[in-house]
Amino acid sequence: RFYRGESYSNLLACLDKGQLAEEQNRWTFEIAWEAANKVGGIYTVIRSKAYVSTEEMGDQYCLIGPYKEACARGEVEEGPLGSESLNRAVETMRNRGYKVHTGRWLVDGNPQLILMDIGSASWKLDEFKNNLWDTTNIGVPHLDVETNDAILLGYMVSEFIEEFKNCAWADTDKQPKIVTHFHEWQAGVGLIVLRTRKVEVATVFTTHATLLGRYLCAGNTDFYNNLDKFAVDEEAGKRQIYHRYCIERAATHLCHTFTTVSDITGYEAEHLLKRKADVITPNGLNVKKFSALHEFQNLHALSKDKIHEFVRGHFYGHFNFDLDKTLYFFIAGRYEFGNKGADIFIEALARLNHYLKSTHPDVTVVAFLIFPAKTNNFNVESLRGHAVTKSLRDTISDIQDKIGKRLYDVCLSGKLPEGAELLQKEDMVRMKRCIYSLQRDGLPPVTTHNVVDDWNDPVLNSVRRCNMFNTTHDRVKIVFHPEFLSSTNPLFGLDYEEFVRGCHLGVFPSYYEPWGYTPAECTVLGIPSITTNLSGFGCFMQEHIADPQSYGIYVVDRRFISLEDSVQQLAQFMYDFARLNRRQRIIQRNRTERLSDMLDWRNLGVYYRQARVKALRAVYSDFRDEVESGIGSLNYPKPFSEPPSPSNSRFTTPTGSRHASDDESDSVDEEGELAELRIK
Ligand code: UDP
Ligand code: G6P
Ligand code: GLC
Repeated sequence: RFYRGESYSNLLACLDKGQLAEEQNRWTFEIAWEAANKVGGIYTVIRSKAYVSTEEMGDQYCLIGPYKEACARGEVEEGPLGSESLNRAVETMRNRGYKVHTGRWLVDGNPQLILMDIGSASWKLDEFKNNLWDTTNIGVPHLDVETNDAILLGYMVSEFIEEFKNCAWADTDKQPKIVTHFHEWQAGVGLIVLRTRKVEVATVFTTHATLLGRYLCAGNTDFYNNLDKFAVDEEAGKRQIYHRYCIERAATHLCHTFTTVSDITGYEAEHLLKRKADVITPNGLNVKKFSALHEFQNLHALSKDKIHEFVRGHFYGHFNFDLDKTLYFFIAGRYEFGNKGADIFIEALARLNHYLKSTHPDVTVVAFLIFPAKTNNFNVESLRGHAVTKSLRDTISDIQDKIGKRLYDVCLSGKLPEGAELLQKEDMVRMKRCIYSLQRDGLPPVTTHNVVDDWNDPVLNSVRRCNMFNTTHDRVKIVFHPEFLSSTNPLFGLDYEEFVRGCHLGVFPSYYEPWGYTPAECTVLGIPSITTNLSGFGCFMQEHIADPQSYGIYVVDRRFISLEDSVQQLAQFMYDFARLNRRQRIIQRNRTERLSDMLDWRNLGVYYRQARVKALRAVYSDFRDEVESGIGSLNYPKPFSEPPSPSNSRFTTPTGSRHASDDESDSVDEEGELAELRIK
C-alpha cells in the first residue's frame, strides 16, 4: 500500500532529506526505552527505521531514550545536536540539574539522539509520583524499580518537549508542528504528562504487545478464545501489574493516534486496552541488496563453514555424521519459553529425530536454541572440545607444511617420493596423541554454558523429558546456547546475522508474538523460516503472499487446530525441509530472498508517516499534508513455476521414499527448476 500507488522510497527521494519538514517547521521525536539500548525487538524497530526516518525528516527527526552506558558507549557519538532550538532546550534541562547526553547514533541514517540519565532525576521521583497520582490516580508501588524508572524518563521527556516547543517557536517565529511518538508502556508516561499538562503537540502511541497479553499467554491460558471475556483490571491486579497496566491504558487512550504492529495485536488491544488501533504499523527492516543475487548464497556457504567448525568442536569424539548432509535449524529470542514456542519446537524435534532415524539415517539436524538465560559462563566441556579440535587442526597444518617441504626436496633430487618418506613415524605419533585426546567419557553436552538453576530450566527440562541427549544414534542433535550471539563469542566467533546466514532454517513457532522480527530477519537474509498464524509476521505473510510456503515461509497453524496437531504439523514441516536436496534448498533461498522488498522500511515506513499525519491533523487545524495517502495493496502471487495443485494435496505422514539425491550444482535460479521444490 503506497502513496499514490508509488513506493514510499520514491516519496523519500522527493522529500529531499528533511527540507520539506524544515520549511513546514515540522518535527518528529520518537521516544522508546530501547533507543540505543538493546533489549529485544523494539530496539530493532527503532534502529532499522532510522535510515528512512532521517531520509524523510533530516535533522527535524530525533530519538529520545534512557542513557544506558553499556550500550551507548559502543553505539553513540556524543556531541551537540543539529539545531539551535534543540541544543537550547537541552541546555535548559541541564541547568535544571538533569544529566542529558546528546549525539548521533552510529547506525544507518545517523539519527540525532537525546539520552536522559534517569538517575540524575531520581531526587524528584516523589514529586513526579505525586503529580502522576494527582492528575491520573495512578499509584506506583515504591519497590517497582522498572516503573519508577519509566516515570523518571517520562517526566524528563515531557519537560524537554515543552521546553523545545517554546524554543522552536521563539527561534522561527512560527508555530512548530511537533509529533511525539511514544513506544510501549515504558515510554508512555511522557505521553500521559504531555496530555495532562495540555502541551500542544501531536502524540502517537505504538504498543508492540500488551502487558496483559504477554502475562496471560505465558500462564497457559487459552488466550485467543477468551480475549473478549477477561476481566482486565482483575487479571492485572492478580499479576501485580495493575499500575503498569493503567499507564499502558492511559497512554493508549490519551494519544491522538494509536497504533500496533499487526492486526492480531490490534485485535488484542481492542479487547485488553479497550481501544481499536487507528493505524497498523507493521515492522520493517533496513534491507541491503547485493548487486549480484548469488552473493547472499556465497555468504551462506561462508558462515555455514564457521558453524561446521563449531560443530566439529562440540561433537568431538562422537563426530560420526557427514557435515555435507547436516542441516542447521535454530530458534532465538528473549527467553519466553512458551510464548516463543520453544516448548513445541523441542517436542517436534523429538518426532523429527524419530522420522529421520527410521527413514533418512544419513541426514543429521543440529538444532540451536539461543535464549539468554542466567549462566555461570561457558562450561568446561564445550571449551575443551574446541581446544582439542584446534590442537588437531594445528598439528595437521604443521604436518602438512612439513610434508610439502619434503615433497619439494625429494622431487628436486629427481625422484618420486615414497609414502613413508613423506608421512614419518614422528608425525603418526603426534596425530595419534591428538586422536586419543579426542576421546570423551560422556556425551556431547546439550548446553554450551553452566546454566544457573539447571534443574528448573524449561529448555533443559524439555530436552530431558524428550530424551534428546545427543547420542551417536540421534539424528537430531541439540545445542542450547543460553546467551545472545556476538562476534567476540569464543565458540562461534559469529555475530547473530552471520549465524542466521549460515543456518538452513529458522524455527519460530510462537504462541504470543505481536510481530516477530526473527523470521523477518531470516527472510531478508534469504533463509527460509517457520512462523505461525498467531504471529504478526506470519499473518502479514499469509495476507500478502498467495502461497508463503513456496517462498520458504512455513506457517504453522496454532489457532484453529489442537496443540497436538500443531506439533505434528511443525514436525512435518521440518521433516519436509530435511528431505529437500541441496539444489532445492538453493532455489528456495533464492525465492525467500525475493520477499525482502515487502519487508523494507522504504515501503513499510509509509504507515508510520500515516500515523504521524493523522495525529498532526488532530492537533493543528491548518496542517496540510503535501502528499495524499492513496493506499493501494501489495501482493505476491504464487511463483509461476508452482504446480497448480492445492497446498493440502501434500501428504501428511512421512513416507521416506522421496529423498532426492544431492545435486552439487549451485548455479540454480531458473524458474523452470522451481517446480522441484514441492514434495508431492
Ligand atoms: N537477537 C539478537 N541476537 C540473538 C538473538 C536475537 O540480537 O542472538 C535479536 C533479533 O535480531 C531480533 C530481536 O532479538 O531483532 C528479537 O526480536 P523479536 O521481535 O523477534 O522478539 P521480541 O524479543 O521483541 O519479543
Ligand atoms: C550456496 C553456495 C553454494 C553451496 C550452497 C550450500 O548456494 O553458493 O556454493 O553449495 O550454498 O547449500 P546448503 O543448503 O547445502 O547449505
Ligand atoms: C515486541 C514483540 C515482538 C515484536 C517487537 C517489535 O517485543 O514481542 O513480537 O516483533 O516487539 O515490534
